[in-house]
Amino acid sequence: MAQQHQTNTASRLFPTYKRWDLTFKEAKGSYITDSNGKTYIDLMAGIGVVNLGHSHPAVTAAVEKQLYSGWHASNFFQYPSQEKTAALLTENSCGDLVFFANSGAEANEAAIKLVRKHTGRKKIISFVQSFHGRTLGSMAATGQESIQQGFGPMLEEFVYVPYNDVSALEKAIDEETAAVILEPLQGEGGVIPGHEEFLQKAEQLAEQYGALLVADEVQTGLGRTGAFFAHEHAGIKPDIITTAKALGNGFPTGAMIGKAKLEASFGPGSHGSTFGGNPLAMAAAEAVLTVLLEENLSKKTAETGKAFLGVLQKSLQPLEQVTEVRGRGLMIGIETKCPAAEKVLELQSKGVLVIAAGPSVIRLLPPLTTEWDTLMDGAKAIQEVLQ
Ligand SMILES: Cc1ncc(COP(=O)(O)O)c(C=O)c1O
Repeated sequence: MAQQHQTNTASRLFPTYKRWDLTFKEAKGSYITDSNGKTYIDLMAGIGVVNLGHSHPAVTAAVEKQLYSGWHASNFFQYPSQEKTAALLTENSCGDLVFFANSGAEANEAAIKLVRKHTGRKKIISFVQSFHGRTLGSMAATGQESIQQGFGPMLEEFVYVPYNDVSALEKAIDEETAAVILEPLQGEGGVIPGHEEFLQKAEQLAEQYGALLVADEVQTGLGRTGAFFAHEHAGIKPDIITTAKALGNGFPTGAMIGKAKLEASFGPGSHGSTFGGNPLAMAAAEAVLTVLLEENLSKKTAETGKAFLGVLQKSLQPLEQVTEVRGRGLMIGIETKCPAAEKVLELQSKGVLVIAAGPSVIRLLPPLTTEWDTLMDGAKAIQEVLQ
């Protein structure tokens, strides 16, 4: 007889997520429909994932084609689709070589291993309020105690410096530093744009001390901020870029992109992943990158995002409840005096999906393909709940 276990709920899932009272049924473009048949404007894109919109025909067709041609052979095989996807990523960034993973945390994990191996040093500088993932390495890189609580001891030699603080970074960095890891615009930490001067100084200091600069672009990458990668706004060229979320438009995949000088440190047997670069994931990623580039979505997002931010700033900033409206491209944060999580639920009841970033920021990450009128419908609802 099966053994009986006692749990607090009827669910057989670990309660790791604070779930909403919403059951997913289907999604298309910038709209999600729940199991009650209610349709929502999606201004969160599955936390910055579905950048091309739900069920994008080109991505669906690419995955469907692969679905009938074999799913997995292993990384002993050469996969042309990995080469094609890697070419698209490197031809459109300052990187030369790619390692494929399955998620953002795994891409960062690869970066943490690579910087230590390449430099022979251990110390990694990260930033307060950063978020890099939930694995032991990426959690250690995450500058938020609440994320690390109960899981210690952390991986050693991570140092957390206040974000956008040039002099604190100058004090922290030294000849023992393997890397500086940063989000060009902090996402989970509250949608906090990195100052141009700060990002440039991080690059210069890393070079001066023989450390590597890692840009975590898991949330900011692939058009989200109005550039292919967000660090481009500051004109810097990181040694390593990590990406995931939008890479598969919902199909799980991630990548670490690095400069050619790092090649020897990630030789055969040094790192790996059974599923990394899986043919289905690569079919999705290649289609995503092709659409992103052919439709010039980064440039369009820069324009749409600027106009949308302008509308939100004009309508929300005068409100008593609102402290600041900030962001870049279609990554926008509305800092409020009230708990953001409450406003998220109020917006849901009005048929608009957004998420919180920390206790007081409402975060907007709509699909980059969202129609202007849909963004305006969302803006109207946001104004109503904050009024
Ligand atoms: C900047 C950043 N890095 C890493 C991660 C972790 O990505 P994943 O959840 O795919 O492991 C996230 C997820 O929110 C992120 O925003």
